[in-house]
Amino acid sequence: MRSYVIDGPCRLSGEVRISGAKNSTLKLMVAALMVPGEVVLERVPQITDVDLMAEVLEQLGASVQRDGSRLVIDSSGDLCEEAPYELVTKMRASIQVLGPLLARLGHARVAMPGGDAIGSRPIDMHLRGLERMGARFTTEHGYVEGASERLQGVNTLLEFPSVGATENILMAAVLAQGRSVIENAAREPEIQDLCAFLNKAGAHIEGVGTPTIIIDGVDELQPAKHAIVPDRIEAGTYAIAAVATQGDVTLVDCEPAHLELPLMKLEDAGAQIDRGDGRVRVRMEGRPTTLDLVTLPFPGFPTDLQPPMMVLLSQARGSSILTENVFESRFLFVDELNRMGAHIRVEGHHAVIRGVEQLSGAPVRSPDIRAGAALVLGGLCADGRTEVYDAGHIERGYERFVDKLSGLGAGVKLEPARY
Ligand code: EPZ
Repeated sequence: MRSYVIDGPCRLSGEVRISGAKNSTLKLMVAALMVPGEVVLERVPQITDVDLMAEVLEQLGASVQRDGSRLVIDSSGDLCEEAPYELVTKMRASIQVLGPLLARLGHARVAMPGGDAIGSRPIDMHLRGLERMGARFTTEHGYVEGASERLQGVNTLLEFPSVGATENILMAAVLAQGRSVIENAAREPEIQDLCAFLNKAGAHIEGVGTPTIIIDGVDELQPAKHAIVPDRIEAGTYAIAAVATQGDVTLVDCEPAHLELPLMKLEDAGAQIDRGDGRVRVRMEGRPTTLDLVTLPFPGFPTDLQPPMMVLLSQARGSSILTENVFESRFLFVDELNRMGAHIRVEGHHAVIRGVEQLSGAPVRSPDIRAGAALVLGGLCADGRTEVYDAGHIERGYERFVDKLSGLGAGVKLEPARY
């Protein structure tokens, strides 16, 4: 067990290179199961979630070769249809193998993912969409088991633009018979990246990045090579850190268009933002101005940047209201932030944040990836020493977090946990 030890306060300055997106990489690795040959992925982040997904794919019979930020996945052998409990419980994204296995093998058995720190996270929309394509599911002994002849293309309307449901149905539809249409589909850049990869591998997907995705099924996919899209959540975390520490940071190798709403909100808070080709410079002087924001599916404000934004607003001049519309229990980490001297009160899915002059260093515990990164960010702003326990959460989603922050002048290190 390790913890992040941060000595604050500091002003971040300099350049930080953005890695490939975790939430695209994991799905492209799963999509590789549908290709009876080699898939080469580049710009793959070195994070523990990728290692876990590699274990899931190997468990299913694929071979996974890693060379730095390059992954070669070969699924030309015989695949098995079961993703076991011990792996799925470690990483929810394993549920995304359901569609690809059903499409390729006509059978899948996957442990039910269950909830986590941010919400109950049901998969009803995944199952309903795949059932409409002809799959039949049973759920018993903690597993969801699905079987189908060749899946049939259909029109599906999603109740909510769920990222996971859109991806699972989309991947299944690529190898289904006939045309599928997904209405009210999610539009996240990671989904656009998945579609770009699948089209390179021979799929026929249109309406990418719109609420209506049209897929004409094909009989087989071919080997393909793809460079992963930049991680907009990692980039957003560093942009918010630059403003919260009143620093001057340039993000390189990022896609400003994928960050438009967070950047607009940082400008509302008083930051100066210069957008360039593949880079963004973020500068801040003085304490942030208060603002209200709501989290929504893309292109709305991303729920994954809500925790870092909460840290920023905890030091604003005055009160702000933050509304979480995507995950029902994503304010769980607020008590840890209040331990650092913040004044935040939660009322249902609203958080009322009364800004304070400065946070104070304290021992805190990270409940999940984004809240963990936010608490480290709090430590960079706080007076004195902060220890963020359960560092493992953060390493699931942030590549070389200590190196990158140290490169921007932060006093941060990873140490064996004292408690
Ligand atoms: C993806 O989760 C991301 N995870 C999450 O990032 C991200 O927060 C989320 O999308 C929203 O952007 C990965 O890509 C691995 P959803 P996902 O399906 O697919 C409800 C991070 O920190 N819902 O869009 O699980 C659900 O409970 C993680 O990197 C149903 O009710 O998100 C939630 O309230 C955290 N039934 C809402 O929809 C369903 O069948 C959005 O979930 C599916 C979802």
